[in-house]
Amino acid sequence: MADDLTLDHDDPAAFVAGSVPGRPAGAAASYESGDSPRWTPHAIADVQAKAQLGRYQVRGFSTFQRNLPTLDDLVFVPATMTRLPLEGYREDCDTRTVLGDRPGLVENPIELDTPVYIASMSFGALSATAKAALGHGASRVGSMTCTGEGGMLEDEREASDVLVYQMTPSRYMLDLDHLRRADAIEIAVGQGAKPGTGGLLLGMKVSQRVADMRTLPVEVDQRSTVRHPDFLGADDLRVKIEELREAVDYRVPIFAKMGATRPRYDVAIAAKAGVDVIVLDGMEGGTNAAPELLLDHTGIPTIAAIRAAREALEDCGMADEVKLVVAGGIRGGVDAAKALALGADAVMIGTAALIAMGCNSPCFVEDYEAMGTAPGRCHHCHTGLCPVGIQTQDPELEARLDVDAAAERVARFLTATTMEISLLAKACGKSSVHNLEPEDLRALTLEAAAFTGVDLAGIDRPFDW
Ligand SMILES: Cc1cc2nc3c(=O)[nH]c(=O)nc-3n(C[C@H](O)[C@H](O)[C@H](O)COP(=O)(O)O)c2cc1C
Ligand code: SF4
Repeated sequence: MADDLTLDHDDPAAFVAGSVPGRPAGAAASYESGDSPRWTPHAIADVQAKAQLGRYQVRGFSTFQRNLPTLDDLVFVPATMTRLPLEGYREDCDTRTVLGDRPGLVENPIELDTPVYIASMSFGALSATAKAALGHGASRVGSMTCTGEGGMLEDEREASDVLVYQMTPSRYMLDLDHLRRADAIEIAVGQGAKPGTGGLLLGMKVSQRVADMRTLPVEVDQRSTVRHPDFLGADDLRVKIEELREAVDYRVPIFAKMGATRPRYDVAIAAKAGVDVIVLDGMEGGTNAAPELLLDHTGIPTIAAIRAAREALEDCGMADEVKLVVAGGIRGGVDAAKALALGADAVMIGTAALIAMGCNSPCFVEDYEAMGTAPGRCHHCHTGLCPVGIQTQDPELEARLDVDAAAERVARFLTATTMEISLLAKACGKSSVHNLEPEDLRALTLEAAAFTGVDLAGIDRPFDW
């Protein structure tokens, strides 16, 4: 018995004092904390919370899962002797990005000056001010934005030169006129943060305006349906796509957005059903609110999803026709360039755009503290109490966001991100960012090599199964 040892001063073998301050000599190494890798303080607190609340936890932001492989496990191998780099400051690298270029099916494909655009984020999750700022910011640099669930705002339409209109299973504020005023239509069948479930907007964010747009009671939690009422499988989806093409007179492309779960099969089905663009959102994807267990334990990481999606398009012979957009945890140009090299045609950003606008910025610090958090650590989007006016429907909080300044920060962030991508592409000898390829990368881990098919660093061979 450890205590007996420390107390027995007559024992000639007893230590006089412990080497760890505060720990009696002879006490087990686990004296202060059990250090159980399974029952961590976090795991214990989680059980206690559920025992008190009788329900699962809901929160915003994105996954806190620590064991994910990430794009950081890949590095670029720029041109040296076997390839020629482009002159970084003198030669151009094309960043123009076209989505939905399908003559006969789409009269007006999407044409952007950058391969990066702003993700579908609903009015309801975001304030109207934030929606307008994203639209203005994207338009200033030839990028695009998307409505998200719950309909199109007039301000958002006016602010956005290029706007995608999202159709979710809930059909909230589905409007034929809005559909026809959009530059593309996105059929949402899921998202990376909470695949297999519908949208979630807690009552604190269901203001009168949000409730009116969605025909819902005010301040009551809104849990959207997850299955589209008008299609159950690939055959009905094909009919739906045709209906939508007729509704918009074959003018604009049709996107399908999905969470990454079984991309090899889901992407093939959507492509075969006739969509022009597939938006694939890895499990790192952001959200305004989701059950925490779905954030941390459902879906597959972005790095693992891209290769499967690209191979699916190749396997069904549609790689040239159907474009692939990748999202989920993209933090800037480095992540975006790696996604392009792995096979994405464009990249979509949500959380990074919100951070660029002012999310987690160190102002109104006392309001972060009142929620039990701090700038740089906030993930309290679900509460509707966003200190910087981005994820709230409270008029006083919303007024804190200066539309013009926020738009300018989004525009500068998109510019910087695009510059980062082209800097890497030029170093790899590419005159277009779309010429980046897996051969421009090396994997630092066996895992990353296995997920992506990229050659292992130094070995210059793929992981051989
Ligand atoms: C505040 C917020 C609201 C969102 N609302 C929607 C939505 O209405 N519909 C949807 O399909 N995805 C929605 N998403 C997910 C984004 O479209 C996108 O898939 C995700 O943010 C990409 O991951 P990232 O945030 O790491 O860039 C939302 C994300 C955030 C952060
Ligand atoms: S600052 Fe606002 S948008 Fe950012 S994490 Fe906190 S609540 Fe969400």
